[in-house]
Amino acid sequence: MKIYEFAASIVKLPSVLWYCDRNDGMIDVSIIHPRLYSRGLNLTPVFAIFVHHIHFSQSLHCGATIMENVLSYVEQNKDRYLAELKELIAIPSVSTNKDDTRDIRRCAEWVANHMRTIGLNNVQIFPTPGHPVVYSEWLGAPGKPTVLLYGHYDVQPPEPLELWTSPPFEATIRGENLYARGSADDKGQVFIHLKSIEAYLKNAGALPVNLKLLIEGEEEIGSEHLDQFVKDHKDLLKADLVLISDSSMFAKDVPSICYGLRGLSYMQIDLVGPNKDLHSGSFGGTVHNPIQALTEIIAQLHDKTGRVTIPGFYNDVRALSKKERDAFKKLPWSDKKYAKELGVKELYGEKGFTTLERVWARPTLECNGIWGGFTGEGAKTVLPSKASAKISMRLVADQKAAKIAKLFEKHIKKIAPKSVSVTVRYLHGGEAAITPIDSPGVKAAVVALEKGFGKKPLYQREGGSIPIVVQFKELLGLDTVLLGFGLPDENSHAPDEFISLKNFFGGIRTSVHFFNELPNFMGGQKKK
Ligand code: BES
Ligand code: MN
Ligand code: MN
Repeated sequence: MKIYEFAASIVKLPSVLWYCDRNDGMIDVSIIHPRLYSRGLNLTPVFAIFVHHIHFSQSLHCGATIMENVLSYVEQNKDRYLAELKELIAIPSVSTNKDDTRDIRRCAEWVANHMRTIGLNNVQIFPTPGHPVVYSEWLGAPGKPTVLLYGHYDVQPPEPLELWTSPPFEATIRGENLYARGSADDKGQVFIHLKSIEAYLKNAGALPVNLKLLIEGEEEIGSEHLDQFVKDHKDLLKADLVLISDSSMFAKDVPSICYGLRGLSYMQIDLVGPNKDLHSGSFGGTVHNPIQALTEIIAQLHDKTGRVTIPGFYNDVRALSKKERDAFKKLPWSDKKYAKELGVKELYGEKGFTTLERVWARPTLECNGIWGGFTGEGAKTVLPSKASAKISMRLVADQKAAKIAKLFEKHIKKIAPKSVSVTVRYLHGGEAAITPIDSPGVKAAVVALEKGFGKKPLYQREGGSIPIVVQFKELLGLDTVLLGFGLPDENSHAPDEFISLKNFFGGIRTSVHFFNELPNFMGGQKKK
């Protein structure tokens, strides 16, 4: 269908005399009565019966040509898209670097400039007490839904560097994947939407929905200052739903909608034994080695059935329904294959639950790191003064991160022997999220994924955390759609992180279809 035919169909008259793309999301259309037209009158604007301002986003049903143009633009610009993603990835925006924030700021500026280049408006870099937040918008579709797109431009540290096949910040294509820190988590996934927005704006001059983009720089360190930013900018962030691409598909060629994320309480334990390092021969056998005391404490945190022993830990856990357990069991999954891929002879975890249940819907406790004493080359006989560990607990609905942190602290202090002094610190945390699977946004996402990947998506949860999801609900009243384009074996937070090129371009197509489909599922007048 050509644009003037589509315009005629919108105003429900068979003939459109003239149309003009105003390049602001509207097209002006002059309509003339067909009888005048057929007499071959010399048509001037005088004969125009009325001028209609038609919003372009009404092209949903009729704009085949527009969608074709947008999608073929994506096809034609693949190489440039990848070259630009490489530029974004080359900025080592590691958020744990708090002393030297130059790269973080450079990255925020790159994202902001790119937003301007593709046609987004009101682009702003908001400083926070931590790393800056990048905001932009496109609000040219009055009456249409407003999507708040969230993502993060910060990345995890790349270490250990020697385990990377190619340098972490030089995006390198090998086979079907692009390897680099941030390729999947989350620069590549944010870029998917930027490129879909570009394709739409360049070809249709407008988007079928309103958009607000919020790309933060502290996700990997717990989104410490984002809560306050959202609280301070409630009006600016007003929207109808949140869209996040910062998770994974169920498997290669198996697109999915994620509806559950775990929460997190991240703790540090510091033990001090003797007031200085001691000769292990002269003093061994007289005082409790803090490393030994620490490992004794950690060893007590699970029982023989793999359950966490902290009193009250499971009190608020929302039980899995029979329906959900049955749904999990229907997913294409093999424990054997999973164990083989991870190089373990057998899996471990809480008894009475399947692997997917344990990782998606049960709380867990992990020691992330432990240190103390001598770890250099060779042997040094020392009885160390100090030992420490970092311990994280993944939480599920309806556990509360702060409450779990208190229970942890109380328990550690109770079981720590008198022979050492112990400090427990709560480093950061976030709440678990369950998002509705029958929301209009999810319905649009289902159709979009089917069009983008040629396959119906399945529903899944994830074990990871995106703390702001719950805050979007609590502070802005918004449900989130989790549309992940990563893969379970993408090595996020680890060496050789990658994004599948198939998912990258499938993601762009899905994003285009999502914006196009959303108004079909969210009819009616929508607030901005
Ligand atoms: N993208 C992840 C979250 C994620 C991981 C979602 C796996 C789904 C599956 C995010 O960047 C992340 O790593 N989050 C941290 C949160 C923490 C720092 C508060 C996490 O899960 O460890
Ligand atoms: Mn992420
Ligand atoms: Mn991450």
